[in-house]
Amino acid sequence: MINNAVEQNIDFNKEITRLKKEKNAVILAHYYQEDAIQDIADYLGDSLYLAKMAKEAKADIIVFAGVHFMAETAKIINPQKKVLLPDLKAGCSLADSCPPTDFAAFKKQYPEAIVVTYINCSAEIKALSDIVCTSTNAVDVINSISKEKQIIFAPDKNLGRYLIKQTGREMILWDGACIVHEAFSFNKIVALAKENPTAKFIAHPESESQVLDIAHYIGSTSGLLNFVQKDSCDTFIVATEAGILHEMQKRCPSKQFIPAPVEDDTCACSECAFMKLNTMEKLYRCLKDETPEIKLDLQLMNDARLPIERMLAIK
Ligand code: 13P
Ligand code: SF4
Repeated sequence: MINNAVEQNIDFNKEITRLKKEKNAVILAHYYQEDAIQDIADYLGDSLYLAKMAKEAKADIIVFAGVHFMAETAKIINPQKKVLLPDLKAGCSLADSCPPTDFAAFKKQYPEAIVVTYINCSAEIKALSDIVCTSTNAVDVINSISKEKQIIFAPDKNLGRYLIKQTGREMILWDGACIVHEAFSFNKIVALAKENPTAKFIAHPESESQVLDIAHYIGSTSGLLNFVQKDSCDTFIVATEAGILHEMQKRCPSKQFIPAPVEDDTCACSECAFMKLNTMEKLYRCLKDETPEIKLDLQLMNDARLPIERMLAIK
């Protein structure tokens, strides 16, 4: 009880900053984290940028304020570092939609195919891949593969369909999806766009085809951010996890950002419940106690590293 009372009065900002210095730690945060975590991060970005920062990190400890596959990737590409994740239960519905045993059996049906996996998957799936991609570099990754080769793309079928359209390449798709991006309502977006005729509608490629078909711009989180900064329009309807609105508003204070509506009005479905498991308090505790730590089998890390390194060599 006393402990709890003491903990209640902690200035998390101050303590996290102090512990970071004391322990030579660096905080990497994704745009979907809560605002205060985004604000205290040393590096804030999309999956690709954070993977690059994790690889280059010189600090002894990397605290990954994101989801499990992101922290796992950091550990795989910089295995000497202690990698911490504020809440180990911060998973990803997309990664969960691709169980390794099922995927290995699926892959066996196409022995000649090159396996491209979206970074939103487990280390086991990465180890079964030829090359990894993120939504920022997916088109470049697909275009780097010789035209005669058959391609398996996993786990996101929505991103996969989008990439087929963008690259003109036929691909064998795994049937996975993200619950957050599949929650957006096409009909409500159309209605909202009618109410805001000057607004532009922008979307992350994990959204369903029907939604992407009406978007003025489609891109990764960093792509969406760049777009709203450069575009002359002053109102945007945004179909991706709502956490991104914080950085959009910071970079463009005079513009208006409206989260795209979801099918179910009773839920906060445009928020990723996994991402939001991380809090300032958990970030503080994880730095203080140096746990939970990402620990992976050595062989698994070695097998998963090459497909990630191949991606990093492209862009
Ligand atoms: P980005 O790589 O575009 O940041 O996407 C990460 C993610 O999890 C999207 O749901
Ligand atoms: Fe996974 Fe979707 Fe959350 Fe991104 S938004 S971390 S894809 S569940």
